[in-house]
Amino acid sequence: MEKLVSLAKRRGFVFQSSEIYGGLGSVWDYGPLGVELKKNIKERWWRSMVHEREDIEGLDAAILMHPRVWEASGHVAGFTDPLVDCKHCKNRFRADDPRIKGTPGQPDGQCPACGTKGSLTAPRQFNLMFKTFMGPVEEDAAMIFMRPETAQGIYVNYLNVLQSSRQKVPFGIAQIGKAFRNEITPGNFIFRTREFEQMEMQFFVKPGSDGEWFEFWRAERMKWIQGLGIRPEKLRWHQHGKNELAHYAKDAYDIEYEFPFGWNEFEGIHNRGDFDLSRHQEYSGKKLDYLDTTVNERFVPNVVETSAGADRTTLVVLCDAYREEAVKSEEGIEKEELRVVLKLKPELAPIKAAVFPLVNKDGMPDVARRIYDDLRKRFNVFYDDGGSIGRRYRRQDEAGTPFGITIDGQTSQDQTVTVRDRDTLKQVRVATGQLVSHLQDRLRG
Ligand code: GAP
Repeated sequence: MEKLVSLAKRRGFVFQSSEIYGGLGSVWDYGPLGVELKKNIKERWWRSMVHEREDIEGLDAAILMHPRVWEASGHVAGFTDPLVDCKHCKNRFRADDPRIKGTPGQPDGQCPACGTKGSLTAPRQFNLMFKTFMGPVEEDAAMIFMRPETAQGIYVNYLNVLQSSRQKVPFGIAQIGKAFRNEITPGNFIFRTREFEQMEMQFFVKPGSDGEWFEFWRAERMKWIQGLGIRPEKLRWHQHGKNELAHYAKDAYDIEYEFPFGWNEFEGIHNRGDFDLSRHQEYSGKKLDYLDTTVNERFVPNVVETSAGADRTTLVVLCDAYREEAVKSEEGIEKEELRVVLKLKPELAPIKAAVFPLVNKDGMPDVARRIYDDLRKRFNVFYDDGGSIGRRYRRQDEAGTPFGITIDGQTSQDQTVTVRDRDTLKQVRVATGQLVSHLQDRLRG
């Protein structure tokens, strides 16, 4: 994992937030390559959920919501972790922290930080929602929450979307947006952070058909994830047991990936029954039931939710793409070398092609610049004339750039360039006039 974190910083994927001030715990910033990679993942999700389906509408709800929303959703009462404090060193831990010896609140409970025995308090519930104040007065009446999930923005807009889009049940609402959780044990890079992005879709169905739709969405989501190019043997399902199910869930499956730190979930598919709409109906006093005019029947729709983390999915994509390979030799590199390469699916790669003049003379930089200017109208391409061609290839391997275009001595004679494939290292000569279609064909899918 350290190697990936170091590459992410070196190549401009992810930086620690406020690093020059010593960093802010478990908050990360996406650099020039990271922002492109995450955006490509989010766009692919949006396309498959919203644009390619007739029965799903998009939404972008605000992060700040009426405080009653979080009472109705169960987050005020139930979105908590049990915590213990050390009265000696003032550190705070999750009650189930495996480093704690003995029983917190008892004389044998030992602080994992300072080692003092009997200094740990009995567990107390701590709410994970961030609080802030709305308006000029910092008083309890003005307190609001930073949303801990995007889903509630969908529930409270269910009726607005239904009426304005003229959809009929079954239909869905999809949203990508920031969420905030004051996690007590965050960590593992961008796996568990305090500020993150979710890609959530709530599918509203007739009660009784929820089981079928649940299975449908399970299959769809696994297909989508495999379509990101993730190795299937690194993916598995985990069904929630009775004691793991969230307060709202009838049934839930996680999709897990084998990260360098073990198997962990990065997406959940949840059968939420009618919990959400019924609760919002009760707390808001507004009717949220649905009239099925074909049979003249009223019901509160059930919800099947697909809930993915954009950051966690980005981490899955990065971990899965990261390879270290011994390369015997390739053009421009004579001796055997270990190369680090991100084998990203071309469609997800932040930079699609890098353009290199072989040497900075004989008119090669001029031709290379012209090709670069032409290509960047269509693709995110990169120009690099610094250092040996071998070094330039290696930098782009680490960035996950699928194609390297080199302008060499032959270019001025026959108007062809070499196109190097990041994964096979094979080079083919392509006429400059054919470059756009050559890349287009290979970047699709
Ligand atoms: N609406 C349901 C919901 O929010 P969840 O399992 O709590 O369900 C869904 O979260 C997804 O959001 C997770 O699978 C994960 O990808 C992402 N996620 C949750 N907490 C996160 C955190 N602290 N840091 C990064 N991603 C997180």
